[in-house]
Amino acid sequence: MSGSAPALALEGIVAGIGPLTILDGVSLALSAREVVVVLGANGAGKTTLLRTIAGLLSPREGGIRLFGVPIEGRPAHLITRAGIGHVPSGRELFPRLTVGDHLDLAGRLSPPARRNELRERTLAMFPALGERLRQRAGTLSGGEQQMLAIARALMTDPRVLLLDEPSTGLAPKIVLSVFQTFPVLREQGVSVLLAEQSLTLGLSAADRAYIIDQGRIVLSGTARELANDHRVADTYLGR
Ligand SMILES: Nc1ncnc2c1ncn2[C@@H]1O[C@H](COP(=O)(O)OP(=O)(O)OP(=O)(O)O)[C@@H](O)[C@H]1O
Ligand SMILES: [Mg+2]
Repeated sequence: MSGSAPALALEGIVAGIGPLTILDGVSLALSAREVVVVLGANGAGKTTLLRTIAGLLSPREGGIRLFGVPIEGRPAHLITRAGIGHVPSGRELFPRLTVGDHLDLAGRLSPPARRNELRERTLAMFPALGERLRQRAGTLSGGEQQMLAIARALMTDPRVLLLDEPSTGLAPKIVLSVFQTFPVLREQGVSVLLAEQSLTLGLSAADRAYIIDQGRIVLSGTARELANDHRVADTYLGR
């Protein structure tokens, strides 16, 4: 493992479902403690990208390195163990299981000696969940469910957290409270890769951004650069 390697680096990732190519040579990199957003319209390939990094889909070509260590092609649970947390699109909680059950299940992927510490750290980030440990996930508000999906991923002690459109279905104020966890994660040494459809929302939350269109990265830069780049809106709205 190299000290100067990026937290996460993708090189020429090609992936798809059956004969269908969805990601067509995606390269990107994420530094330690960086918040990076992948912006793209509906169907651009954001979810496929995060699922491929998380090991739920195997790339047909290309490499994925976590702090310099190749992880592409490994099964998802080993990628989780290696340090990648995935907060899936639509949250994918178990409605009848409690908040505490979700944290316990995810904690099983971490070393037993660390579980209590992880749980304390996670609940310190989301005090509202601590008050609802015995509540079933299906009865939580949308914002609380998103917090739980993030908390569950944090129970595996990730160094890189993948967040797939956590803003979906949430009121702007609640989205803000979800995005306010990013600086806290950064302080804890976690890098964030966020997938988002909304330009303004995504650019407001990130240091840097990549724009994905039809499975290819078409633009990248700092959030500030892209906020002032007319090509961004053209890419998005021109079709
Ligand atoms: N299981 C699947 N079978 C066939 N095609 C799929 C499948 N999953 C995704 N696709 C196709 O791959 C492309 C990328 O989809 P993906 O879900 O990655 O996009 P996305 O950027 O996450 O979109 P959204 O913003 O709607 O979540 C789309 O054209 C989609 O129709
Ligand atoms: Mg998606």
